[in-house]
Amino acid sequence: MAERIPLIAGNWKMYRTHQEAAELVRALIPRVADVSYCEVVVCPPFTALTTVAELLKGTRIALGAQDVYWKSEGAYTGEISPLMLKAVGCRYGIVGHSERRQHFGETNATVSSKIKALYDAGLIPIICVGERLEEREAGRTHEVVSRQIDECLDGLEEEKLAASVVAYEPVWAIGTGLTATPEQAQEVQAMIRGQVAALYKKQVADALRILYGGSVKPESIRALMAMPDIDGALVGGASLTVESFASIVHFA
Ligand code: PGA
Repeated sequence: MAERIPLIAGNWKMYRTHQEAAELVRALIPRVADVSYCEVVVCPPFTALTTVAELLKGTRIALGAQDVYWKSEGAYTGEISPLMLKAVGCRYGIVGHSERRQHFGETNATVSSKIKALYDAGLIPIICVGERLEEREAGRTHEVVSRQIDECLDGLEEEKLAASVVAYEPVWAIGTGLTATPEQAQEVQAMIRGQVAALYKKQVADALRILYGGSVKPESIRALMAMPDIDGALVGGASLTVESFASIVHFA
C-alpha cells in the first residue's frame, strides 16, 4: 500500500484580521517546527494570505485558501482566481465546504470546476464532502457521500486524483462539538476509498489522502488517526488557538 503522509489542516473560516492572523501564525511556527511525520496547512481568510505567506517562508507549514473561483481572470466581481492564490504562495485550496454549499450555492458541479481550475494553476484541492443530519438519520449517508464523490471528481485524471485530498466532514459534526466516532468516520472513509478504487484503480485509492473534519479536538485526534482510512484532519474551531492546534498536530 502507498505510504500516505498525514495532513492536518486548519480552516480559520471568517475569523482573524490579517494582524490577528500574523500573531496566531507567529506563535504557531515554533510550536510545530519539530513535526516531520505530518504535513501542516493553515487556511486563513483571503485578506490574510499574503501576510501569513510571508511569515511561513522557510517553515514546513503550507498555506491554503478556503475557496476559489474556477476562471483564471475576468469580470467576476468579488471572486479570487487560482492563479492569484498560487501567486501569493498557496499550495492548497479547500473546495465544497458544507458552509459554501449551505450559504453560497456551491454544488457538486461548481466543486468539480474548481478542482480542475486549482490543478491547472498547480494547486492541490481539499475536496469536502459529508452528509447532513437528516440524511444520516434516514440511512442515506453512503448514497449522499458517494454521489458527492462521483459528481465532484467527474472527469478528473487519475494522477490528479491520487495527489488530491478529500475531507469527509459530516455536516452535523461541524462546529457543534459532536465529533463522529472514529468508527463512524472510518466506515464512511473506507467507503470513499472503495469507491475511488472502483472508479479509478486501487493504486489511486491507496495514494489518496482522506481527512476527517467536524469538531476535531486534541482529545479526539488520536483515536481518529488510529483508523486505517483516516489520514489527517480538517480542523475548524480548534485551529484558531495555538495551544489546541499544536496539540492536534502532535497527535503522534
Ligand atoms: P470544526 O470545523 O472543527 O469547527 O467543526 C471543521 C470544518 O468546518 O472544516
